Amino acid sequence: MSWITKTLTSSIGRKILMSTTGLFLCTFLVVHLVGNLQLFRNDHGLAFNVYSHFMGTNPVIRTIEWGLVLGFGVHIYQAYVLAAKNKKARGGQPYVSNHSEQNSEWTSRNMSILGTVILVFMIVHLYNFFWRARFGKLVPDTNNNDDLYTLVVSSFHNVPYVLLYVAAQVALGYHLWHGFRSGFQTLGLNHRKYMGLIKYTGYAFSVAVAAGFAAMPLYFLLFTNEKGEITSQAPAFVQSLLVAFN
Ligand code: HEM
Repeated sequence: MSWITKTLTSSIGRKILMSTTGLFLCTFLVVHLVGNLQLFRNDHGLAFNVYSHFMGTNPVIRTIEWGLVLGFGVHIYQAYVLAAKNKKARGGQPYVSNHSEQNSEWTSRNMSILGTVILVFMIVHLYNFFWRARFGKLVPDTNNNDDLYTLVVSSFHNVPYVLLYVAAQVALGYHLWHGFRSGFQTLGLNHRKYMGLIKYTGYAFSVAVAAGFAAMPLYFLLFTNEKGEITSQAPAFVQSLLVAFN
């Protein structure tokens, strides 16, 4: 076994792989969230469809997408290998028998469960949006771009679908709550001077990402008609937020 293989398959090597891929996936979440804010434009999805068309056809983005596939793959694989190793080290006993609830946070002990909820969400999400955007037949909008917006709006008028999205964002928020800080710690970037900053940036990041993504399905379900137009029943603060955004 070469030293590279030895390092990458040791527990610390696996943790380093998880941290670097996890922090890389955090940057993806920021880009995805900011891009999806186009959904809130009051233009029947034209800006969102331009953005999706760009993401789906730009050669640089298409290349980065392979990095994303690799990032998700490595992160998930290493998570399951480490969880299995930890369980074996405890003689197959779950954490609860160690009274670990007294010395670690709930989120830290349940990263695999939270990750699995996110994985189920990802499978549904990628099939419904990504697969259909790339390989399905979508009707063109007035700019002749594939009308992905109409697919998003109709999906977010489906109550079970919206519930899955919101539940997944709660899981994602908890996962990041622990994962963000833990990623920096594993990489040794947790100097005492900056620990507080990293911890609270992580908390703010988790809440902003989870709330931002959850706001999208909730907004379409609660405040828009089937065409994605805001209804007059939407509370005044939602209407003013949209005016400010547009
Ligand atoms: C609730 C808000 C969300 C909406 C409206 C949304 C929408 C979309 C759409 C329309 C696509 C297809 C884009 C295209 O191919 O042109 C997509 C792709 C994707 N989404 Fe989401 N998404 C949301 C949340 C999330 C979350 C929380 C994650 C991860 C935890 C995620 C991960 C992905 C990935 C990995 C892809 C494929 C990569 C890519 O197209 O760049 N999405 N999403």
